[in-house]
Amino acid sequence: MKERNEAALVPQEEKDRQQGFMDEVASLGGGKYEIVTYGCQMNVRDSQTLAGLLEGMGYRPAARREEADLILFNTCCVRDNAERRVFGNVGHLQAQKKANPRLVVGVCGCMMQQEGVPEKLLKSSPFVDLVFGTGNLYKLPELLLSVLKERRRRVLVDQNPMAPIAEGLPASRHGGVQAFVNIMFGCDNFCSYCIVPYVRGRERSRAPEQILAEAEDLARQGVQEITLLGQNVNSYRWSDGTDFPTLLKRLDGVVPRLRFMTSHPKDLSDELIETMASGRSICKQLHLPVQSGSNAILQSMNRRYTAERYLELVRKLRAAMPDIGLSTDIIVGFPGETDDDFEATMELNRLVRFDSAYTFLYSKRQGTKAAAMENQVPEETMKERIYRLIAQQEAITQEKLRSMIGHELEVLVEGPSTRDENAYMGRTDAGITVNIEAQGLRPGDFALVSIASAGMNTLRGTVKCVRSR
Ligand code: 5AD
Ligand code: SF4
Repeated sequence: MKERNEAALVPQEEKDRQQGFMDEVASLGGGKYEIVTYGCQMNVRDSQTLAGLLEGMGYRPAARREEADLILFNTCCVRDNAERRVFGNVGHLQAQKKANPRLVVGVCGCMMQQEGVPEKLLKSSPFVDLVFGTGNLYKLPELLLSVLKERRRRVLVDQNPMAPIAEGLPASRHGGVQAFVNIMFGCDNFCSYCIVPYVRGRERSRAPEQILAEAEDLARQGVQEITLLGQNVNSYRWSDGTDFPTLLKRLDGVVPRLRFMTSHPKDLSDELIETMASGRSICKQLHLPVQSGSNAILQSMNRRYTAERYLELVRKLRAAMPDIGLSTDIIVGFPGETDDDFEATMELNRLVRFDSAYTFLYSKRQGTKAAAMENQVPEETMKERIYRLIAQQEAITQEKLRSMIGHELEVLVEGPSTRDENAYMGRTDAGITVNIEAQGLRPGDFALVSIASAGMNTLRGTVKCVRSR
């Protein structure tokens, strides 16, 4: 029997049909494309699929936006600033479209899954040719063909929360030593502030064999580090009994480094901690969003754990892996957050001492439970609080980074540093970015780096020795 968590697949006939459309688009001569990606790693991975589809249809990446024949915006709606940027940036294309009427402008991703948003966008930006949702990605060939051939606007947004998954789509990553692999889609948690379950649908896991095959294929392409992606990887499940720790064990060793995100504290099991601690290639790094340190707020957020339980998890993680890199997400100004609630968050942060924290001002999302809550916190109060939290975290991060000066750390070299032409950039097992003063390193090298100094969020050092692929 099919488990609730298993993803239904897009049937082969439908994929063949799309292949037919792809061939037809390719016969039209192709062109140049640009994809603008907003939001999380899930969207980055989706954009790679979109790029893979476009390249399969004869399109190549444009060096500059002005050269593009097709521009796609892959949108995010988790907070309203991302949304405002999309409207602004799509609007800016009006002039380019006037100058080049053949330009195809498309908007896709999470924002398009929100009720009423596609209509609003099509009204405010009449030059948009193509709109599709997260569940319709694989239909890009069909949609693009009709835009190109019939010169008509195509809109396809599927609200099915169990939308089937298309396996085997091409992905264009343009090399690199690091890659993302989806293990599941959607989220069932309905945290009261969050729009994701509404736009990404219910939790659906991919078959372990498909995940393994993708990871092995990436390894053959020279990828050294894979990050497994899911909104809540701990609820990964397949009917053959594979849960997340089992999946990790099956993937362990396929590439030298394996990471995953995101973990929900309520589902983080002892078995996962043991699997991480004993894994050969599983990095000692965890992104574990806490969101708040106040039990009243955590309850109102529907997070289903307490601050005490979270602290206990951190204690267990550090007991099993003393050098584990811990990062988190914190929302400031959730409805009803009092001064005391916020102080509880400051206190939790003082106790945990995260290596890094992503801090967000609460943003009201239409349709979520929290949007209807009373006691929305005034903007001024939210800002005062977040500045204090950021200052506290910066001090902790600084102390932690400085304590590593004089140590030797193994760094996977990702490429030349973007800021300094005499340096390379890479990451430690715990996820810290290190700038390496050296010459002749190659992406994919493992360098033992002697740490000499610390920046705001990064370390800097010189190479002791190198292990090449
Ligand atoms: N307001 C502010 N932050 C939010 N996040 C999710 N929804 C909201 C919202 N409405 C944050 C959470 C989550 C991260 C990806 O984004 O901290 O972990
Ligand atoms: Fe949103 Fe909560 Fe699901 Fe994360 S776990 S995607 S915050 S609903």
